[in-house]
Amino acid sequence: MIELRQASLVYKDQGKDLYACRHINLTVRPGEFLGILGPSGSGKSSLLYMMSGLKSPTSGEVLYKDQRISEMSEPERARLRLVDFGIVFQYPYLIGYLSALENVLVGSPGVGTREKAQELLLDLGIGHKSHRLPHELSGGERQRVCVARALLGGRSIIFADEPTASLDHTNGLAVVDLLVRHRGEGALVIVTHDPSMLAHANRVIHITDGEVVKEEVDPSFAPTGPIRETIGP
Ligand SMILES: Nc1ncnc2c1ncn2[C@@H]1O[C@H](COP(=O)(O)OP(=O)(O)O)[C@@H](O)[C@H]1O
Ligand SMILES: [Mg+2]
Repeated sequence: MIELRQASLVYKDQGKDLYACRHINLTVRPGEFLGILGPSGSGKSSLLYMMSGLKSPTSGEVLYKDQRISEMSEPERARLRLVDFGIVFQYPYLIGYLSALENVLVGSPGVGTREKAQELLLDLGIGHKSHRLPHELSGGERQRVCVARALLGGRSIIFADEPTASLDHTNGLAVVDLLVRHRGEGALVIVTHDPSMLAHANRVIHITDGEVVKEEVDPSFAPTGPIRETIGP
């Protein structure tokens, strides 16, 4: 459903080309939990930005449902991120003067209802705190609000960029577990440097210096969509 073909992301660093991602071929299959594992600086965030349309590849292509994201207009891309994709970042970005519930709703104008948002917060264990402002919540609770915001409306893909990095290990595992259990039919892509967060992934891609170096597949996972070659130039 998301397909990268020879996708590279190059930054200019003091006039020199720096390949954050190099010729990546990768397909995200419907419903799968895909883990992307790599050390700091290996290009994980860059890869996630390309997959989610936050950044355009310098060369190569990124397709969503066979349509090139780079050929979409900015409003179309924004709609993709609002309606089709859910994104969770390392730090829980919330609007300080809105309650937890309002922060969940703000991510899905016209898509999610108040009742559904409240239900999600309840499922995530913070239903009784939905009236609170972000500064009245702990770090783990704030990240749960971001998870609810990403889940509301039944997205086709949830992207999470080191969603557990600012949490202790127990809260980190809890946040991953919530994403896994509540994503419904959606695919889940989690980028992390911590392999313990990917214990239940259907597939784990290892990335080093912007390149895919290894892929581990859970043989019992049957994707609901077409399988394509995922590694190789
Ligand atoms: N905006 C930028 N400008 C220049 N270089 C960048 C920029 N963002 C990231 N990089 C570099 O690209 C490489 C990959 O970064 P990143 O994708 O953030 O890795 P990770 O998320 O795995 O830590 C690193 O060498 C980083 O320094
Ligand atoms: Mg990163």
